[in-house]
Amino acid sequence: MNHALYDAALVRISELFNSDATGHDVHHTLRVYRMAMRLAEAEDADRELVGLAAMLHDADDPKLFGPENGLRNARAFMAEHHVPAAKIETVCTIIGEVSFSKNGSNRPSTIEGKVVQDADRLDAIGAIGIARTFAFGGNRGRAIHDPKDAEGTSIAHFHEKLLKLKDLMNTDEAKRIAEARHRFMEEFLQEFEEEWNGII
Ligand code: ADP
Ligand code: NI
Repeated sequence: MNHALYDAALVRISELFNSDATGHDVHHTLRVYRMAMRLAEAEDADRELVGLAAMLHDADDPKLFGPENGLRNARAFMAEHHVPAAKIETVCTIIGEVSFSKNGSNRPSTIEGKVVQDADRLDAIGAIGIARTFAFGGNRGRAIHDPKDAEGTSIAHFHEKLLKLKDLMNTDEAKRIAEARHRFMEEFLQEFEEEWNGII
C-alpha cells in the first residue's frame, strides 16, 4: 500500500474509532497492520491486500457500527480511493474471514486472510491482550474476577478465548510469537491467583 493510501486509511480509521474505549482504538489497528506486514513478508503474501485488509479489518465491527452493515465503511474508503472493484471484493472477503466470533476456529481460505487473522489474534494475547481484556471488561461493566462465577468476568475471558488462541494460529511465525505471549499470560494468571488467595 503506498504512503498516500496508508495516510488516508489512518485518517479514516482515526475518525471511525474516535470515541471507542473497548480496545478497538486506532492503535490496535496499527499494531495489527505492522504485525500483518511482518507475517506477509515471512509468508510471501500479497502485501497490498494484507495492508488494506489489516487497516480496515475493524472499520465495520458490529460492536461499534451495528450488525451486518455489508462492510460499508471499508467499501466506501476503498471506492473513494479508486481501489479497483475486484480488489475491493477480495479485501472484503479477507476481512469477513478474519473475525474470531463470526468465524469460530475456521481457517481463512487465503494466505492473506490467514496472515491478517493471525495478526489480529496476536494482539489479543500477551501483555497487550491482558490490557485490552481489562479495558474491554471495564467498559462493559464486567467484574475483574469472581471465584464463584466462572462466566462473564475478565479473568474468565482468558479461559474462554485467549488461552485457546495460540493453537489456532495459521502461520509458523505467528505460532512462534504466540508461544511467548501465551507463557506470559499463564504467568500473569498464576501470579493473579496467588495474590488473590493471599499466598504471596
Ligand atoms: P478483535 O476483533 O480486534 O480481535 P474483539 O472485538 O473480539 O477484538 O475484542 C476486543 C478486545 O476485547 C480483545 O482484546 C478481546 O480479548 C477483549 N474482549 C472481548 N470479549 C471480552 C469479554 N467478554 N471480556 C473481556 N474482554 C473481552
Ligand atoms: Ni481487531
